[in-house]
Amino acid sequence: MIFPENFVWGAATASYQIEGAVKEDGRGQSIWDTFSHSPGNVAGGDTGDVACDHYHRYADDVELMRELRLAAYRFSVAWPRVQPDGTGPANPRGLAFYDRLVDKLLSAEIVPYVTLYHWDLPQALEDRGGWTDRDTAYRFAEYAQAVHDRLGDRVHHWATLNEPWVSAFLGYGNGVHAPGRRDPGDAMRAAHHLLLGHGLATARLRELGARSVMLVVNSAPVLTPAQVNDPDARPDQADAAGVERVHALLTRQFLDPVIHGRYPAQVLEAAERNGGTGHVKDGDLRAIAAPIDQIGINYYNPCVVEASPGEPADAAWPGSEGVRFGGADAPTTAMGWPIVPDGLSRLLVRLSHDYPGVPLMVTENGAAFDDVVENGRVHDADRVSYLDGHLREAHRAIEAGADLRGYLVWSLLDNFEWAEGYSRRFGIVHVDYATQARVPKDSALWFRDVITRNGL
Ligand code: FCB
Repeated sequence: MIFPENFVWGAATASYQIEGAVKEDGRGQSIWDTFSHSPGNVAGGDTGDVACDHYHRYADDVELMRELRLAAYRFSVAWPRVQPDGTGPANPRGLAFYDRLVDKLLSAEIVPYVTLYHWDLPQALEDRGGWTDRDTAYRFAEYAQAVHDRLGDRVHHWATLNEPWVSAFLGYGNGVHAPGRRDPGDAMRAAHHLLLGHGLATARLRELGARSVMLVVNSAPVLTPAQVNDPDARPDQADAAGVERVHALLTRQFLDPVIHGRYPAQVLEAAERNGGTGHVKDGDLRAIAAPIDQIGINYYNPCVVEASPGEPADAAWPGSEGVRFGGADAPTTAMGWPIVPDGLSRLLVRLSHDYPGVPLMVTENGAAFDDVVENGRVHDADRVSYLDGHLREAHRAIEAGADLRGYLVWSLLDNFEWAEGYSRRFGIVHVDYATQARVPKDSALWFRDVITRNGL
């Protein structure tokens, strides 16, 4: 099973999850510093203060990537390193870290994919309303320019936001993520301002000559329990409407405005029921629809729903009244997430159909398992099987016509898994947090061979 020529193979990480060094070189405070240091928010009271100490160990980490033959590395820039208060002149010492990292990657012949926002908003901006405040979108475009000014001579692949659904609905809806606010109207407003920030930053990056800009979304096929194991199962009318509504809230809420310049009706209805649509100003949708070069897809598991009359909306899903979210009849990872590899092909095929002409890239896919180090090795057969299954489905989607350009595994390293802290290991490389020792797991060696063969 061979992938197309020039298919991009790599791994992904995010700043707050791996860097540590939270007080170094003038870095300001982010909402994740505040949130993780407030008791009760993160399992085990874990914080990103040290994480994988990648800020100091980046050179060795790039060497490891070279040994694993990664062709691409997706990392994110910490906004508070660049603008400690979220506005004003750039902090050259913060940018210098990414400068060194990019040079190191290029010398290892690894193509950098830079994500501008993977959730670490400067706390100073949150104090002024965060993503519920329209001004944050304009600040984001300025920040994007500051990063491009410093790295744009060497970085050609840009992602604006990582998973705006998660930022908006876990950050401002159910409060499971920073900044931990809980208001459905705030979450809807945050989602719109994130999109506006994406559009403004995209236009700015293009003016500055960026070759490729993408938005990265967390997406999933929305399925009834019966459809999980039987793609041909026909849901009844009520279930089918619930499925389409949740698909609109999860995926179309972001990709329809960006690609088609309009919100789906289900999203406008959800906004109407939660504070209205007054925050959507004239011209916003035009700005949001600034052309992008590809869509980044983070896929882990399907979203399983069924109609349930009278059910109140879930706190993370304003507009989901009358729908119940449930589990799937499938084995699960250490996150409790169902393993449904063909969810990936179903998703890629649907997105190709809904957004024709826009290339796709899997920017995250992977799994947490309870890995153990034995005699210096990690035999993570369950992760190899997860990745193998999903790659086969990625290939199947390509054969079915999806324009899939690459696959990045989540994650290079075990790291700070947000509300779960260090208790969940997603890396293909094991990290001993006491010593910071890295051990490539069996999955890393397997992935290296996949890359070498350009297939399975
Ligand atoms: C995604 C995030 C990433 C990581 C994985 C497991 O939602 O983008 O940072 O936490 O989930």
